[in-house]
Amino acid sequence: MKPPLQLLSLAAVLARGWAYKTVSDDTLRHIPGPGDDFDIHKGALLAPILRPRVSGTENNTLVLRHFIDFFKTNLPEWRLELHNSTSTTPTSHGKEIPFVNLIATRDPPGTNVGDVGRLAMVAHYDSKLTPKGFIGAIDSAAPCAMLMHMARTVDAALTKMWEAQKDNLNDLEGAKGVQILLLDGEEAFVSWTATDSLYGSRALASDWEHSYHPAMSTYRTPLDSIDLFVLLDLLGSAHPTVPSYFKTTHWAYKHMATIEERLRKLGLFKSSPNHPNRMAKRKNKKPREEKQFLFEKDKKNSAFIGGFVEDDHVPFMKRGVDILHLIPNPFPVGIWHEMADDGEHLDMDTVDDWTLLVTAFVAEWMDLEGFFDFKAQKRKAEEKTEL
Ligand SMILES: *[C@@H]1O[C@H](CO)[C@@H](O)[C@H](O)[C@H]1NC(C)=O
Ligand SMILES: *[C@@H]1O[C@H](CO)[C@@H](O)[C@H](O)[C@H]1NC(C)=O
Ligand SMILES: [Zn+2]
Repeated sequence: MKPPLQLLSLAAVLARGWAYKTVSDDTLRHIPGPGDDFDIHKGALLAPILRPRVSGTENNTLVLRHFIDFFKTNLPEWRLELHNSTSTTPTSHGKEIPFVNLIATRDPPGTNVGDVGRLAMVAHYDSKLTPKGFIGAIDSAAPCAMLMHMARTVDAALTKMWEAQKDNLNDLEGAKGVQILLLDGEEAFVSWTATDSLYGSRALASDWEHSYHPAMSTYRTPLDSIDLFVLLDLLGSAHPTVPSYFKTTHWAYKHMATIEERLRKLGLFKSSPNHPNRMAKRKNKKPREEKQFLFEKDKKNSAFIGGFVEDDHVPFMKRGVDILHLIPNPFPVGIWHEMADDGEHLDMDTVDDWTLLVTAFVAEWMDLEGFFDFKAQKRKAEEKTEL
């Protein structure tokens, strides 16, 4: 007997499309910011990352430990996996250096691992070997902290939504999950080449390409399960300008740019010259012109000329994964790969704005409108600090 294979694969195709529902103004207004947890000296989330953390060193392991502890303590529903690889480097004198990627996944309960399409939110956590003592705050301590805050902000709403939908999680709509990839070994040890860079992401993309899900799964491999790979890099300096790099994912860029536009209009973007706090401090109340971080919402099809920045997405993109690359062009001048890329040089308003924008994007992607209870979340957080 022939099983209806044709029908099954059609279902898989249908599973990838869904109605995109925007989050309400009220939700945008109530998404909490990271507050003191992003304090560069004492903040529970950011401060422990702000240290040299070159791949293969003890500090690198301590930072990885910080991520694991964070998820285990605060977000027990996220499945944690370590992806290990080793490689020699131009400075290792033949020694194999370990690279450890952390993968934190939140899938709808009761779904099969091969049947969930995922939004992958990605940043690298290693820091550059030179200059000596380099911190890498925008590169990419701050992006890692942003993803941690995003995860804890959407966690309860995911639980609530899946609880409400528990009888039809496996229907044609397709199961959707979120994944955070904190990658190791992005930086070159000497200078950027095909083999001296992207140690963690090259190993992960290559391994995932050949890790097959059980037969009859909707997606063949974990690589295939990635609906969109959103890479955050070099974020946290003032006045970033992030182009839309890829025609194939410009639709996703537009969704995020629209959220940014709304956040600015609602007076929720702290770095905006027209934010109520800044307005209050200046005499001339005339609104000032402001440039969006994502300034290419209206980019024409013909304007995509194919330039992009080499980064952790490349090994995934080569294998057909859809990429949204959130990296400013130009790179922050005087900061990028300089000693000045430390906690003190972060523009905290910009860091908070990125965090809010990325969190709202995930909320919208995951259809979380109607499932947030920020008051309850706040109470719970306060109880935790009192303990
Ligand atoms: C490890 O981190 C500590 C704390 O930030 C720092 O003082 C030390 O220099 C780092 N070690 C290395 C080898 O960079
Ligand atoms: C990966 O490496 C870590 C140490 O960095 C170790 O604790 C873990 O067991 C390893 N995982 C696997 C699957 O080998
Ligand atoms: Zn770098």
